[in-house]
Amino acid sequence: MSKPTERQQVAMIIGASRGIGWETAKKFRAEGFQVAGTHRGSGVPDGVRGYEVDVRDRAMLRTAIADVAAAFGGLDVLVYNAGLAKQDLLIRLTDEDLQEVMEVNLIGAFTAVGAALLQMGKQRSGEILLVSSESSKTGIPGAASYTASKAGLEGLVKSAMWEAGPRGIKINLIAPGPTETDMLAQVSEDNRARLIEGSPLRRIAAPEEIAEAIFKLSSVPYMTGATIAVTGGEGLGF
Ligand SMILES: NC(=O)c1ccc[n+]([C@@H]2O[C@H](COP(=O)([O-])OP(=O)(O)OC[C@H]3O[C@@H](n4cnc5c(N)ncnc54)[C@H](OP(=O)(O)O)[C@@H]3O)[C@@H](O)[C@H]2O)c1
Repeated sequence: MSKPTERQQVAMIIGASRGIGWETAKKFRAEGFQVAGTHRGSGVPDGVRGYEVDVRDRAMLRTAIADVAAAFGGLDVLVYNAGLAKQDLLIRLTDEDLQEVMEVNLIGAFTAVGAALLQMGKQRSGEILLVSSESSKTGIPGAASYTASKAGLEGLVKSAMWEAGPRGIKINLIAPGPTETDMLAQVSEDNRARLIEGSPLRRIAAPEEIAEAIFKLSSVPYMTGATIAVTGGEGLGF
């Protein structure tokens, strides 16, 4: 496999069909990367090579990551962004909903990290970023499956950095605060007002702002195993 300096940089975004992932794929493309992104039939931004993948299908996800590395001659950045939340109190949470949230948010990340490490290990370089959520620290009433799945990513990263580091690969978490995407559409007007009030910047993030942070964090030297909050200060003060 060729060294990254000898070819165009390659980024793959898992969950590039809308919201933060869509903007992230666009950002890497605009910065001159070759970009691949996954979707489930709805497509990816122009100029991004699309792979139709449901991350609950572990073999399909592994194959897509290997295919990207083979097609582009390497894999420099992998962003695991796919995620979903189910709003339900613990006394009503169904087995099916719990399983889907864990499979998409946490197990899919395990699969993607393993497959990316395999490819990046060959070139002895790479950046892995997992999209967590600041709410994994604060909690959300009625979304324990979501916050627990995101908290699980922290444990994944803490061990993965030891396996990745000696091979020149870094792995970090980005923890956004409330961001204007379909996911936030589940939140009531009252709760939106509370989120804005709880943010020192007094606003909800645009997905482009989170994409910008993901792009910048993918090139910070000497940072691995870190969780970076991009929340407009929400959840970080008293
Ligand atoms: N919005 C927020 O306030 C916020 C805050 C903190 C963290 N986050 C995190 O940011 C990430 C992106 O969320 P978003 O706000 O951009 O939400 P979104 O617009 O709902 O996008 C979710 C993405 O995940 C993908 N996805 C869901 N289930 C999947 C599956 N089974 N297989 C493959 N892909 C799947 C979706 O693909 P489809 O289009 O095919 O469904 C979509 O690309 C998530 O990990 C989320 O937890 C969001």
